[in-house]
Amino acid sequence: MTDTPRRIMIAGNWKCYKTAAEAVQFIQAFRAYPLAEKAVDVALAPTFPALDAAVRAAEGSPIRVAAQNVFWEPDGAFTGEVSVAMLKAVGVGMVILGHSERRQYFGETDETVNRRLRAALAGGLEPIFCVGESLAEREASRTLDVIRTQIEGGLAGVDESSADRTILAYEPVWAIGTGRTATPEIAQEVHGFIRSELAKKYNKSLANRIRILYGGSVKPDNAAALMAQPDIDGALVGGASLKADVFWGIVNA
Ligand code: 13P
Repeated sequence: MTDTPRRIMIAGNWKCYKTAAEAVQFIQAFRAYPLAEKAVDVALAPTFPALDAAVRAAEGSPIRVAAQNVFWEPDGAFTGEVSVAMLKAVGVGMVILGHSERRQYFGETDETVNRRLRAALAGGLEPIFCVGESLAEREASRTLDVIRTQIEGGLAGVDESSADRTILAYEPVWAIGTGRTATPEIAQEVHGFIRSELAKKYNKSLANRIRILYGGSVKPDNAAALMAQPDIDGALVGGASLKADVFWGIVNA
């Protein structure tokens, strides 16, 4: 049995940038590019208050809208959190989970990422589940151990059919917002490792279907070399996703 080739996905993570009006402006400008001609899936992750407007601005286009986090409970006294149903009610279909900035600055752990991930999957959202090592961990040659622990923790209790709807993202913390991209070879090594871990946890065919995005200083001029690696199936883009022409440069690459 041959597996269908994995479709490239380019996702923009807008982090804490852009009001709703700015998000709409971006999407309107971005829709002018010949997106449908590209065999690439495109997603954008605005802030919570911009999601509703972004979904409406993207209607009728191939652009998918993602949230940057989601809570595991359906509702309750949980100040500052947003539930799966709330995202779905505004038409959001995807969610980024376990981003290193959430882990680093907001106390997110493998366990909380796992709870969010399972809730997202149970509610029918497509998660982009992020893993990645810090500079200290890489320098101590702990990269693969860290990634293995994050995968095991994040995907604990996630069955095969749910894992099949999960997208992974490898984002080395030392490459995020630093202008320091992992070389395609360094990224490929970790992507290959992630796929082999997924094959061990689930099976080879599932591991071959799951998309693994790379994130960390992806730009129009380094995107093609990264995507050319056998286990890199797309990009999760921060800074270079904030301007429509630059982001198009990555999709077009
Ligand atoms: P930069 O592309 O700005 O390095 O950010 C990467 C990232 O964190 C995407 O989620």
